[in-house]
Amino acid sequence: MTISAIIPAAGVGKRLGVGYNKQYVPLLDKPMVVYTIEAISLHPKVLEVIFVVGKDELEYAQELVDTYQLSKVRHVIAGGAERIYSVINGLKIVDEKCEYVLIHDGARPLITQEIIEECIGKSIEVGAAIVGVPVKDTIKIVKNQYIETTPSREHLWAAQTPQIIKKSWYLEAIDKIEDPLSITDDAMIMERMDRPVAVVKGSYENIKVTTPEDVGFAEMILRRRMQQ
Ligand code: CTP
Ligand code: MG
Repeated sequence: MTISAIIPAAGVGKRLGVGYNKQYVPLLDKPMVVYTIEAISLHPKVLEVIFVVGKDELEYAQELVDTYQLSKVRHVIAGGAERIYSVINGLKIVDEKCEYVLIHDGARPLITQEIIEECIGKSIEVGAAIVGVPVKDTIKIVKNQYIETTPSREHLWAAQTPQIIKKSWYLEAIDKIEDPLSITDDAMIMERMDRPVAVVKGSYENIKVTTPEDVGFAEMILRRRMQQ
């Protein structure tokens, strides 16, 4: 079984607000997305990595691939206006030999080998598996600043990545996607196709670097891991 890894990294990072794509923000002097690609590349079942970036970043992204010798990166391509379009651009060029696609956000540099391994195992069993964590806070459905309801926390999980899906399932689904703007992760596409998607418990450390305080948290975790 071989896997093609698609790394969507073509956002703008509006919530982080550094003025450039957050994927390139340095964490302890190395760009965030380099940690991400290194971690995903390390898994022996990952045959290739497709690095999806902004259309004006192709050259810089290729420079990073060369500088950090990210040898599993086979393609550096331009993404689309939404995450889903960036993933689809990657899907179109996946190596024929790969039966599964692994999608992992460029902005999740703290993923570990143990979690990748567990998610791969589950995806082989089920056809699709994602990493997630039970939510810690009580979640409210809020409309116009008033609470409408409180869903039971028992069944609420926050979806992370990687999300690993049989390539044939995903390819079959992309022709049928309706309302693409409402899609924020890959599992949603499988849910709409009535495909089963398993959830593997990930880690609260596997954050998506999104707002400014996340940078300090990510650096703290990286520093701790380096000392171990
Ligand atoms: N992404 C992408 N193409 C887009 C939008 C997002 O490849 N058109 C990627 C991001 O680069 C990121 C991942 O999808 O790695 C998750 O998205 P998010 O955290 O929302 O990143 P941004 O869209 O860059 O951030 P923001 O929403 O704050 O602008
Ligand atoms: Mg976004």
